[in-house]
Amino acid sequence: MAAHHIPNVLTIAGLDPSGGAGILADLKTFSALRAYGMAAVAALTAQNTQAVTGIAAVDPDFVRLQIDTVFADVRVAAAKTGMLASAPVLCAVADALAPRCADGTLPVLVVDPVMIAKSGDALLAPDAVAALIERMLPLATVLTPNLPEAGVLLGRPAPTDRMGMIRAAEDLRRLLSGAGERWVLLKGGHLDGDPLDLLYDGEHLVEMPGHRIATYNTHGTGCTLAAAITALIPQHRDVATAVRAARTYLVDAIRHSGELAVGSGHGPVHHFHALWDDEDDEAETAGFGPSPTHEA
Ligand SMILES: Nc1ncnc2c1ncn2[C@@H]1O[C@H](COP(=O)(O)OP(=O)(O)OP(=O)(O)O)[C@@H](O)[C@H]1O
Ligand SMILES: [Mg+2]
Repeated sequence: MAAHHIPNVLTIAGLDPSGGAGILADLKTFSALRAYGMAAVAALTAQNTQAVTGIAAVDPDFVRLQIDTVFADVRVAAAKTGMLASAPVLCAVADALAPRCADGTLPVLVVDPVMIAKSGDALLAPDAVAALIERMLPLATVLTPNLPEAGVLLGRPAPTDRMGMIRAAEDLRRLLSGAGERWVLLKGGHLDGDPLDLLYDGEHLVEMPGHRIATYNTHGTGCTLAAAITALIPQHRDVATAVRAARTYLVDAIRHSGELAVGSGHGPVHHFHALWDDEDDEAETAGFGPSPTHEA
C-alpha cells in the first residue's frame, strides 16, 4: 500500500516559552494533526499564562535566512504566519514568501494577523499595521483575524454583532488581492455568548456557529486554530472542510484543557487530547504505569 503523504508545514511566528501559544503551540497542533512541523522564529517573548514580560526582536535578515534555508531544502505544503512583531520583520517575511506564493512553491499561506496577546499585551508595533495590509494580506490564502484585529485592519470599530461581522468579512475579503481562492475567517470568540465564526471567499459565506465552553484556558486558541487550518488544508479537498475540521480539533482541545495543570492565568488548550487517554490518570501515575486491573 502506498505510504500516506504527510505534508511539511511551516510556522513563522513568535516563541512563547510557556508553550501555550506561538510556534510551540503550532508545532503541537501540526503534530497532533498528522503534519510534519517546522518553525522559523520571528520574535522571542518571555511570557507565561498570565503575562508577556518581555519581547526580544530577532534580526529581520536572520528571520529571512531561516525561511530561505528551509525552502532551499524542503517542499513546504503550507505555511502560517503569526506574531511578526515589527514592520522590518514583517517585510522580511513578506520578501521571503511573496515570490514563492507567486510561483506556487508555497501553495497555501495562512495569515493570522496577531496584534494583542490574550493577556492584553501588544505583539505587533502599531506602525506595522500598514505593512501587514500592504505586504502580507495579498499573499494570504486564509486570513484569520479576531474581531479587534478586524477593526484595526479596516480602520473602524470592531464588529459587535453578526451583521457587523458579515460586513467586516466582506470588506476584509477585498483586502485579499491575490489571485485564486482567498478566504477570510473572521473569529467571533470575543463576543459574549456562543461564538460565531464567519468564513468568506468573496462569494460563499459559511457561518460556523459554536458553543462557548466555560473555561479560562483559552491561551493560544487563535494560534492553534490557524495552525490546524495550515496542517489540514493540504489534507482536505477544500478550505471550508479543512476549517471545519480545524474548529472541531480546537473545540475538543479547549474542552480537554482541564486535564492539564499549567499556570494560574489563561491556561493552554490540550493539543494531544485525542492521543493521550487520561481516564485512568490517577491509577496510572500512582503505579508508574497502566493499572493491572485495566486492559489497554
Ligand atoms: N470559550 C470558547 N469556547 C468555544 N470556542 C471558543 C471559545 N473561545 C474562542 N473560541 C473559538 O476559538 C477560536 C479562536 O477565537 P478567538 O476569537 O478567541 O481568537 P483569538 O482572539 O485570535 O485568540 P488568541 O487570543 O489566542 O490569539 C474561534 O474559532 C472561536 O470561535
Ligand atoms: Mg489571535
